[in-house]
Amino acid sequence: MGLGKIGETLTAMEILKLVKKDLERVEREISLESVASVDAVTTISRYLQDGGGKRLRPILVLLASRVVGAVSDGSIRMAAVVEMIHAATLVHDDVIDIAQTRRGRPSSNAIWGNHACVLAGDWLYMQAFQVALRERNFHVLDLLIALTQMMVEGELLQLERIGKIDISEADYMQLVDRKTASLFSACARLGAMMGGADEATEARLGEFAWNVGIAFQLIDDLLDFTSLEKVLGKPVGSDLREGKVTLPLIYALESASAEERQFVGRVLKDGNYDQSPFSNILGMIERRHGFDRVRERAQSFTDKARTIITEFPESPCQRAMAALTDLVTHREY
Ligand code: IPE
Ligand code: IPE
Ligand code: MG
Ligand code: MG
Repeated sequence: MGLGKIGETLTAMEILKLVKKDLERVEREISLESVASVDAVTTISRYLQDGGGKRLRPILVLLASRVVGAVSDGSIRMAAVVEMIHAATLVHDDVIDIAQTRRGRPSSNAIWGNHACVLAGDWLYMQAFQVALRERNFHVLDLLIALTQMMVEGELLQLERIGKIDISEADYMQLVDRKTASLFSACARLGAMMGGADEATEARLGEFAWNVGIAFQLIDDLLDFTSLEKVLGKPVGSDLREGKVTLPLIYALESASAEERQFVGRVLKDGNYDQSPFSNILGMIERRHGFDRVRERAQSFTDKARTIITEFPESPCQRAMAALTDLVTHREY
């Protein structure tokens, strides 16, 4: 690929070690900022924070700050902000998707119900903005507001397409851009900003993370078919059951027989695999090389990201960012 050995030497543990101390500060900040005057909100926020999660988005903020300069108090705050926004979107997403499991535990809506979770999500969004406001930086607010609207638009677009079999690759990419890559991009931009980068550098790191974000969602949608619930922390086959036609299936449907299409249509209509077993759908995607093609497509985005990150001076954090691209495509959960 002509990209040399960059990144190949760092593992997930090594990346984590680089940001461990800062990440602890981020966790403290999130805990501190998740206390509401109403217990229900505090309980739901705590439950989410304690439920694990890869903390990929705050890690991106921290690494971006360090690649351009150093982690400042602002970087820690912004890392907390993006994880809080992420948590808020997950709470709302699980309500919308009627999900029962998240991060290997009952989802918050399964415990506290939809009403409380919609409100807790709203509160979390606003709290994230309140923390961001302390920066007294309009550029930060511009970015965060545009981002949040973009993510909501993504979820709305997805809603419009629920149950539809004829989703094009372009439709799908538009969704992934909005609901996932936009947040990844914002993380790197905020980190760069807080580390003192100029606008061009900030934009370039944003582009890096955008590509990582697209690959991340592509793999997420692939894992929804190929992984196991105990590894993933959420049930497999959920997307199709929820009426979402994602890229492995989009590719497979391009060359599917009329009978195979009917098979997929059945799940979309029923919302379960009773008449159209999951293993048959898996077999069809395999036969039509849907998974291979998605892996290749994801790889093309991480290749782009790696090309961008090689423009930055070599440092442990620059190598960590390059390594992150591999972790995204090779992850199991
Ligand atoms: C889940 O994101 C939502 C998607 C964009 C697919 P993550 O897989 O990063 O969730 P956690 O934070 O690690 O649980
Ligand atoms: C996750 O979307 C929420 C956002 C990215 C806004 P999905 O519905 O695709 O993700 P999971 O599968 O529930 O984690
Ligand atoms: Mg969901
Ligand atoms: Mg969803």
